[in-house]
Amino acid sequence: MVARRRNDGAARAASSPALALAVLVVFAFCARSASAVGSAPHAAFSYKEGDPDGPEKWSTLQKDWALCDSGTEQSPIDIAEVVVSKDLAPLEQTYRAGAAVVQNRGHDFMLNWTEGNGKLTLNGKEYTLLQVHWHAPSEHTVNGTRFDAEMHMVHEDSTKEKTVVSVLFSSKAAGKDSKLLDDLRPYFEKLTGKQNATEEVKGPIDPADWIDKASGYYRYEGSLTTPPCTEGVIWTILSKVADASAEQIDSLKSENKVHRR
Ligand SMILES: *[C@@H]1O[C@H](CO)[C@@H](O)[C@H](O)[C@H]1NC(C)=O
Ligand SMILES: *[C@@H]1O[C@H](CO)[C@@H](O)[C@H](O)[C@H]1NC(C)=O
Ligand SMILES: *[C@@H]1O[C@H](CO)[C@@H](O)[C@H](O)[C@H]1NC(C)=O
Repeated sequence: MVARRRNDGAARAASSPALALAVLVVFAFCARSASAVGSAPHAAFSYKEGDPDGPEKWSTLQKDWALCDSGTEQSPIDIAEVVVSKDLAPLEQTYRAGAAVVQNRGHDFMLNWTEGNGKLTLNGKEYTLLQVHWHAPSEHTVNGTRFDAEMHMVHEDSTKEKTVVSVLFSSKAAGKDSKLLDDLRPYFEKLTGKQNATEEVKGPIDPADWIDKASGYYRYEGSLTTPPCTEGVIWTILSKVADASAEQIDSLKSENKVHRR
């Protein structure tokens, strides 16, 4: 399996305890309301450990990627020690359906909305949802457990500050699948192995359904997980792990499944 994680989140967190601390926000019953975005074209670096342009070399590939190594609040992390907060509010979003395109970025699939498609309000600031992409396996771990996949919903405010909402997926619950991955699977299948190719999404894709409103979340301040590894990114990781089938997880792999050069 391709290693898509850039650094060992657990090791990093252990060497720097402050980083391991995420805030868990729990809403037991919350009826009220409720992830290229500045990153380089993906072909410019590799996710594979040991590659000449792999994760441990990212900081040397371009001048402004130095943070990938020297950064002090780099994502992903292992979420272990958490502080429960009652002060943080439920996620407030006004996502809506809109025209979208799925692209094979080489290492992953990205869903990009051609117009703005709603906002997330966080600490009184509004962030527009720009794109969503998937990692398989997950980048974040919880108490050392890596999940089958992770969805990143990437948002940006008017000053280009970013915030990411993340949903973890597990195929452990046999027979349960994900509606959103089901809706997108035909596009993933068409684009597998076709780097840079795009497919227009037919029919509305409504991200408002993708965030489980009953779920709490972990909150911490980290970075983009790919170059330029920019810091100051607020992460919101839903504590409720979503179900997906093994086939759906497999469909998230953008590279050719049979043979790879
Ligand atoms: C998403 O699509 C819009 C419109 O086609 C384009 O301007 C933008 O660069 C795309 N965003 C990303 C992250 O590729
Ligand atoms: C991780 O495990 C410890 C010890 O069992 C527990 O206190 C902590 O809440 C767990 N963290 C998460 C995020 O589940
Ligand atoms: C895809 O785009 C990247 C970045 O622009 C480029 O380096 C790469 O060669 C392209 N790959 C293909 C197969 O066209």
